[in-house]
Amino acid sequence: MNHNSRIAGFHRLTPEERLRAVRAFDGLSDDDIRQLRGGAGVLTVGRADKMIENVVGTYELPLGIATNFQVNGRDVLVPMVVEEPSIVAGASYAARLIRDGGGFAASADASLMIGQIQLTGIDDPARAIAAIAAARGEVLALANRQSSSLAALGGGALDLEFRQHDASPMGAMLVVHLIVDCRDAMGANAVNTMAEAVAPLLEQLSGGRAYLRILSNLSDRRLARVSARVPAAALARDGIAGADVVTAILWAHALAVVDPYRAATHNKGIMNGIDPVIVATGNDWRAIEAGAHAYAARGGRYTSLSHWERDAAGDLVGTLSMPLAVGVVGGATRVHPAAQAALKLLGVHHASELAEICVCAGLASNLAALRALATEGIQRGHMALHARQVALAAGAHGDEIDLVAAQLVAERLIKPTRAAEVLAELRVAV
Ligand code: MEV
Repeated sequence: MNHNSRIAGFHRLTPEERLRAVRAFDGLSDDDIRQLRGGAGVLTVGRADKMIENVVGTYELPLGIATNFQVNGRDVLVPMVVEEPSIVAGASYAARLIRDGGGFAASADASLMIGQIQLTGIDDPARAIAAIAAARGEVLALANRQSSSLAALGGGALDLEFRQHDASPMGAMLVVHLIVDCRDAMGANAVNTMAEAVAPLLEQLSGGRAYLRILSNLSDRRLARVSARVPAAALARDGIAGADVVTAILWAHALAVVDPYRAATHNKGIMNGIDPVIVATGNDWRAIEAGAHAYAARGGRYTSLSHWERDAAGDLVGTLSMPLAVGVVGGATRVHPAAQAALKLLGVHHASELAEICVCAGLASNLAALRALATEGIQRGHMALHARQVALAAGAHGDEIDLVAAQLVAERLIKPTRAAEVLAELRVAV
């Protein structure tokens, strides 16, 4: 076993050679390797038919491995499922820069989720709050009777909070927040079951009528955070001094802080790193996206999720803190065979550990994008990979893909029509 995620030349290997390197990294079983390789029999139609409705088949995406990650001193290979070129390469590259600065330091909160119960038609909200608060123990006990497994694991409903809205399109309402520790699960099912179960009691206590009973995806009690340092010298590129790259990155960050138009793209670059890990591990990427963007707007104006600054030594320091409601048990994490293999490869046993790795991948992707934007621009690195996709779309097979792509890059003309011409010329020449 080799626990070094810095695998030199990984990108130059064939997929089978990469799988062997992955296996050597963590001693995965033959079966795990088969799941990661994908293809027939991994997610069978029969299994898929049990996951969602009206199934007619399955749909595959590339699974790549980001290298160079060192999280809290531990080397990690990060599985990423994504269709966009440059993301895996960018994350790996940024993770290497961060490795030079000592690696990622990450942490995650306890898995606290919020279930919302909306109460309407309440004449005296203060009295309703007092009545519910007085019965707090009874409400929590009722919630906890819905999930004995969560309670057995030391989690469960912990607290109640209140949010009063005096005006809305339908009038005043009181919202009760049920705070639930979901331990290693994402927790949507447990929280929704609890919210539905306690609603009649809350109606009785408040004299109001309950409408919505559902978890909130703004899981701001369940943040993951990371900080990382990149030596300025490591950022030097194409004759641009490292210190100048740091300055350019800080200007890019500054724009994302003040301008929502830029912040949306900046944060998309963060999610480029996070979503692929969420998908690879069978987690709910819509929940993560919803939580991230709501959190980015928590101050009343949508802004950057990450923060970048220069430290006293002139090096670049980045931090990212955001909601990360992920699970390592339950849902698709258990049902999708490749998700199980991905979790095994990551070596995570707790939701908090997965959240930590996700937030690291997010900061890495953000850094990769900012560094490219601050220097040669995003297109140069993108071009070679994009050219391969265009070559593929034009019908190139096997070795033809790289030959056509290389020609398109040389001509700086990444166009489907030109790809078709180059392919035709190549086939005539052979
Ligand atoms: C593209 O998928 C993501 C970027 O636009 C992010 C950014 O601009 O920071 C490159």
